[in-house]
Amino acid sequence: EDPRIHGIRTRIRVVPNFPQPGIMFQDITTLLLDPKAFKDTIDLFVERYKGKNISVVAGIEARGFIFGPPIALAIGAKFIPLRKPRKLPGEVISEKYILEYGSDCLEMHVGAVKPHERALVVDDLIATGGTLRAAMNLLERAGAEVIECACVIELPVLKGREQLNDKPLFVLVEYQ
Ligand code: PRP
Ligand code: MG
Repeated sequence: EDPRIHGIRTRIRVVPNFPQPGIMFQDITTLLLDPKAFKDTIDLFVERYKGKNISVVAGIEARGFIFGPPIALAIGAKFIPLRKPRKLPGEVISEKYILEYGSDCLEMHVGAVKPHERALVVDDLIATGGTLRAAMNLLERAGAEVIECACVIELPVLKGREQLNDKPLFVLVEYQ
């Protein structure tokens, strides 16, 4: 394991029973308070994806907006925000999905990505996988090729990987 992973793991705060009883909330705001650990997080993704001809990084509102843009800048890709409903002003395509707590929808601007562009999807965490699945669906409906999904944290017990239909998923930290 890369020695930087330990520092990242120790700076993620776990908050029991937030936002609902029974949920162990993975709080990445404490990771962001440590510039070394935050930079290590971005660097580990950049080292994996630079030179891979990825032209698009798509980040998922809200916490994917923290990690996606610095990765996009460092690898020379454009950034596409995948937003919650009714936030984007242009023409959009939408994907509904089920969450651990409730249901939601992601939207992407039509024309943000061109057919056959190589895309990376970034979020902070995969739980049930519904959010990443919806993000992949949006990009694939627009004709992009999703190369991989990247998250800081995975909750393997929820088996979110199985939602991704064998699409590669790269994570830095597993929370057991
Ligand atoms: C959280 C998290 C992921 C998603 C993972 O986002 O940031 O995006 O849930 O869940 P899943 O794998 O079960 O779909 P949330 O929608 O709670 O809100 P936020 O990012 O806007 O804070
Ligand atoms: Mg989120």
